[in-house]
Amino acid sequence: MWTPVTLIAVLVCLLTLRFLNQLWAHRNYPPGPLRLPIIGGAWRILINFSQDSFMKLAKQYGNVYTLWAGNLPVVVLSGFEAVKEGVINHSEYFNERPVTPFFKALANETGIMFSNGYTWKQQRKFGLVTMRKLGLGKKSIEYQIQEEASQLVDAFANTKGQPFDPTLLITNSVTNVICFLNFGQRFSIGDEDFLKLRNALFQILQSTATLFHFLYDTFPWLMKHLPGPHKKVLENRDHVASFVSKEIEKHKVHQSLHEPQDFIDYYLLQMMKSKRDPNSTYNEENLINSVIDLFTAGTESTTTTLLWGLLLMTNYRDIQGKVQKEIDDILGSSQSFSYQDQKKLPYTNAVIHEIQRYQYILLFGVPRQCSKEVNMFGFCIPKGATVIADLRSVLLDPNQWKTPHMFNPNHFLDQHGHFVEREAFLPFGAGARVCLGEQLARIELFIFFVRLLRAFTFQPPEGVKKIQEKVVVRMTTPPCPYKVCAIPRSNGS
Ligand code: HEM
Repeated sequence: MWTPVTLIAVLVCLLTLRFLNQLWAHRNYPPGPLRLPIIGGAWRILINFSQDSFMKLAKQYGNVYTLWAGNLPVVVLSGFEAVKEGVINHSEYFNERPVTPFFKALANETGIMFSNGYTWKQQRKFGLVTMRKLGLGKKSIEYQIQEEASQLVDAFANTKGQPFDPTLLITNSVTNVICFLNFGQRFSIGDEDFLKLRNALFQILQSTATLFHFLYDTFPWLMKHLPGPHKKVLENRDHVASFVSKEIEKHKVHQSLHEPQDFIDYYLLQMMKSKRDPNSTYNEENLINSVIDLFTAGTESTTTTLLWGLLLMTNYRDIQGKVQKEIDDILGSSQSFSYQDQKKLPYTNAVIHEIQRYQYILLFGVPRQCSKEVNMFGFCIPKGATVIADLRSVLLDPNQWKTPHMFNPNHFLDQHGHFVEREAFLPFGAGARVCLGEQLARIELFIFFVRLLRAFTFQPPEGVKKIQEKVVVRMTTPPCPYKVCAIPRSNGS
């Protein structure tokens, strides 16, 4: 006789059997927090979530662990050895990005960042070649970065040594560099379209890798119909896409076929050249999303690094002084210098690297997907698993850095004060998916940093001893908003 009690008992037995069966089937996966029905192991990071949550899990479960996001296994690689083994030594199996419902809604597997297979290969190669071409010649991107740096120095000078929050000023300059790269023009800071673009980009990044992102990936059928920040992200993405579309139309009218000036020019030219190629992936959807990728990947990241840089220089005045002395001694007061001069400034170069290491600006790396079952350190990483290289754990790995939790430029200097490259310096990721804008980012960081430190000494506001090194935790990890004083230096330019 089926009474309600026996029915419930049978149901509980069946669910328990199914749960044990799953545990058995996944026994070779790397260990990790208990996988609960529906939410998987996410409960472990959602409780008391912080920038260190992933490194704490590695302490408990080892350098390769599984964190179930609902039904999806997410394998996290922690520390230099595991990340190297995964994304460098097994690079060919970890080249894809996961096509989760949220990423699919954002980019529809087009562009560079969220595409896979042949589309990704073709878009990435085109992106790399074009960035290289735009870096050459008089009108090169480096020249434009110098222009933006001059505007930034002027904007800082206007604060007349009074406390100010540098976030918006830096964001404007860095966004304008990418505008120049994509559209061949910069915008004035008061331009309403520019402000809308800048704010939309900020909103897109704010909700990525948050609870809403997780809920969208776990319950897409429900979240698609519910209001919330995820809807805002998609609206803002549409806003950026329509802005880019208008720019493409303008470029079509004034197309510089013989002298392409920017990313869109080169892309339209490529579309024309490959018109008859049936396998070509050069089309407007890929163009729009590649441009959006350059914006989203290239603005917050560089801005956040510079914000940490100013904060750390303010807090470590002795290091700031040494950088300024090196710049004054080597570059003198002459206005012009180039990225090549970085080789003559080993201490400054070491400080920029240390800023990127000590306050890494991503919560973890950009997720990858495993395209084939891989055995690593005796564990099975299943085909289709999302793989996260925890780059922050690499930059703080106690086996790689003498004083991982101290701001110490000596990590990048030998005993003679020469700059040394470090294998575990992986803020731009590694393998075939390594950051496409690494070179551009390095040039930007160097030029903005040198120009600002040459022109100003950074101090905390009166009555403040040190600016708090508190972090806002989202996909990027900027410092909490802070105020600083930029005191003009007599020899500043
Ligand atoms: C300090 C600045 C930057 C940092 C720390 C950074 C870091 C990263 C990281 C960690 C990845 C993922 C790599 C991986 O999966 O292993 C990435 C990807 C990417 N970055 Fe950057 N990035 C920076 C600046 C830029 C800039 C300025 C651009 C271009 C304007 C850019 C464009 C891209 C693109 C397009 C990808 C996707 C590459 C692909 O999927 O093939 N990034 N970046």
